[in-house]
Amino acid sequence: ITIGIDIGTSSAKVALVGDDDRVIATASRSLEVSRPQPGFSEQDPQLWWNAVLECLDELKAAHGSELAQAEAIGLSGQMHGATLLDEKGEVLRPCILWNDGRSAAQCEQLTREWRGLRKVTGNLAMPGFTAPKLMWVREHEPEVFAKVATVLLPKAYVRYRLCGALVEEMSDASGTLWLDVGKRDWSDRALAASGMTRSQMPKLVEGNAVSGELSAELTQRWGFRRPPVIAGGAGDNAAGAVGLGAVHAGDAFVSLGTSGVLWATTAAFAPAPARAVHAFCHAVPNTWHQMGVLLSAAASLAWWAEVTGRTESFLLGELDPNRAASRCWFAPYLNGERTPHNDAAVRAGFAGLDGSCTRTDMTLAVLEGVAYAMRDAQQALASAGTTLTEADVIGGGARSPLWSQLMADVLGVPLHQVAESEIGCALGAARLARLANSAPLESLQRPKRVRTFEPRAERSALHAVRHRHWQGLYPALSTWSQ
Ligand code: XUL
Repeated sequence: ITIGIDIGTSSAKVALVGDDDRVIATASRSLEVSRPQPGFSEQDPQLWWNAVLECLDELKAAHGSELAQAEAIGLSGQMHGATLLDEKGEVLRPCILWNDGRSAAQCEQLTREWRGLRKVTGNLAMPGFTAPKLMWVREHEPEVFAKVATVLLPKAYVRYRLCGALVEEMSDASGTLWLDVGKRDWSDRALAASGMTRSQMPKLVEGNAVSGELSAELTQRWGFRRPPVIAGGAGDNAAGAVGLGAVHAGDAFVSLGTSGVLWATTAAFAPAPARAVHAFCHAVPNTWHQMGVLLSAAASLAWWAEVTGRTESFLLGELDPNRAASRCWFAPYLNGERTPHNDAAVRAGFAGLDGSCTRTDMTLAVLEGVAYAMRDAQQALASAGTTLTEADVIGGGARSPLWSQLMADVLGVPLHQVAESEIGCALGAARLARLANSAPLESLQRPKRVRTFEPRAERSALHAVRHRHWQGLYPALSTWSQ
């Protein structure tokens, strides 16, 4: 038995998983994001820790005897967030999250000042990545910057609270812009470019390696027979990949979480930054991946639910599944966009509304807008030499068959829904824990496919035309935001 802990953006989840991948129990707590200014996105790290404590307390109360047998814990988490600790290990300010757009000027500065950036880090400097955030803090909060002893990503902060170790693994470290992604080591040159040093970085391990051991106090609190080891773990997307067994070159998936991700595993470091394709390490040794990232995928539907005062499932439920397309348009740039635009300033928009447009037209436009943005990411990956022929679909949005079918039609490839897809990241984390506890890599089976959404040729043709039309929105919206 192992435990997977996933620190998402909208919720933290803990899963207790048997060695046969059977999910024994899960617990989760929702998390709030604070937006102190437009474009800012922050979370207090204490919220993550409280959620983890509550989830494990709950699992102990309901499944104490199984929990006691767990031998290893794996961690997954939202990527890129800057959690700043002083030399006593105290948090210095709220964590600046992956979808925070405040550091565009710092990205420009970094790009100007260090020509080697793309080659070493494999990526464009994008706001949301960790390095430009530290440059922002240096400029705007110098008294905080002066005290930064360690920078941790969200799940590494949880690890620190679990076992006291300052450790990060390769997949998440790739999103800092401080890693030499090809060499799988911190780059002193990259660190210097944003005024940082190696001494402020956690130690690096692979995701399937042991990073520490649960503290004696917590071992007792949750009644473990022996202190579980803690695996390196993975950024949430790499953890999702491990959950799917997507560890071989060519494996692909679509994630419809708060963010949207189109992922392809690669056998080598394959940077292709021109259209904001991310090239990162995977969470298992000697493996990398490319991905396109949308900043607001399920977040767009969540926002629309909030605005309309309805629940997401109500909005989805009132849609007619036979309807071919909406009569209006939505561009999902609520927080700016990464792939393919790398534009933190652009904002979302509805377009083409007429007086007879209804809520259902607009809901469908939101789902389509996210699917069209995913098609943009698919084309960006294709320009980097990666063509998808099929993919799995995970994340909260994958709960909707209508959205998954629409996504398959728009991308023109079959999408497979798998068992336990909603807790994909926590499952991946639990699997990494099992590997750290000496299970072989070959034990990562693909989860059962429960349903396949085949693209429907007529709909794909319709959406190819609509997607080209929709692409006209970005240039218009980017002028608006200037
Ligand atoms: C990936 C990214 C998001 C977050 C979401 O680069 O920023 O997918 O990891 O949690």
